[in-house]
Amino acid sequence: MATVEVKNDGGKVEVPDGSLLADIDGKCSVLFACKSASCASCKVKVLEGMENLEPPNDLEKAGLEIFATDPSERLMCQCKLKKGKIVVEY
Ligand code: FES
Repeated sequence: MATVEVKNDGGKVEVPDGSLLADIDGKCSVLFACKSASCASCKVKVLEGMENLEPPNDLEKAGLEIFATDPSERLMCQCKLKKGKIVVEY
C-alpha cells in the first residue's frame, strides 16, 4: 500500500501501489473538478516523495505548462503513485 498525506487535512489516505490519485476524490480535501488537467483545482505542491510519482503524462504536462508556477507542483487528477508515501499541500 502507498500513502497520500494532504497537509491541509492533517490526515492520510492509503491507496494500492500504482493508484491513480484521482481515485482519492472524496477521501481528502483536494478538489477534483474536471479530472482532465484543464482546471487546476487539484494542483498541489509535492513536499515529499516526488520520486514516488510516475512522471507527468502528456495531459498533465500540458496542464502544468499552463497552471504550474513551481517544478514541485503536480495535478493530482493525472498522477500515478508508484509506491511509498507522498506529502502534498495546496
Ligand atoms: S481536476 Fe481539473 S486539473 Fe485536475
